[in-house]
Amino acid sequence: MQNIVLIGFMGCGKSTLARELGRVSGRFVLDSDMLIEQREGISVAEYFAHYGEEAFREREREFIDWVESSVHGAIISTGGGMSAHNSVKPMGIVVYLDMAFERICTRLSQSDLAKRPLFGDRTKALELFTKRQAIYQAQADITLNAELEIAALVSALDPLL
Ligand code: S3P
Repeated sequence: MQNIVLIGFMGCGKSTLARELGRVSGRFVLDSDMLIEQREGISVAEYFAHYGEEAFREREREFIDWVESSVHGAIISTGGGMSAHNSVKPMGIVVYLDMAFERICTRLSQSDLAKRPLFGDRTKALELFTKRQAIYQAQADITLNAELEIAALVSALDPLL
């Protein structure tokens, strides 16, 4: 059974949708940020501060290799930069959650922003968002409008579950 891999910008709802897909399908859910945090013993923000972004991308590449070789039938929520820096296709069917930047900004609280080192400055985050959109699209097997209700997103993915 193929994995379902959720990609998209920070704050577009990948983790929330992954949990809901796991709940309705009974499949296991993996969150790349959470697994990297558990393995390294520090938060993503601390990891960036101590070791820098390039080292974090290396940890993400290890995650991709591990999923490709060892994980089947899971729902996988990826960090927003993973698919912008590496091919995520080897992990499974790739679903891009597309959401407007303005909408993302209204969804993220101060504490959500504090956890995301690349969302410190809104202008820089918009530049990143603009640069990444075509990359997400190119990696996607399926693109969904992430502004839809979660029930609509789950039913759009029902044929894969
Ligand atoms: C990042 C997204 C974050 C996290 C890290 C870098 C990015 O994950 O992996 O802060 O480069 O877009 P979320 O998409 O879950 O916020």
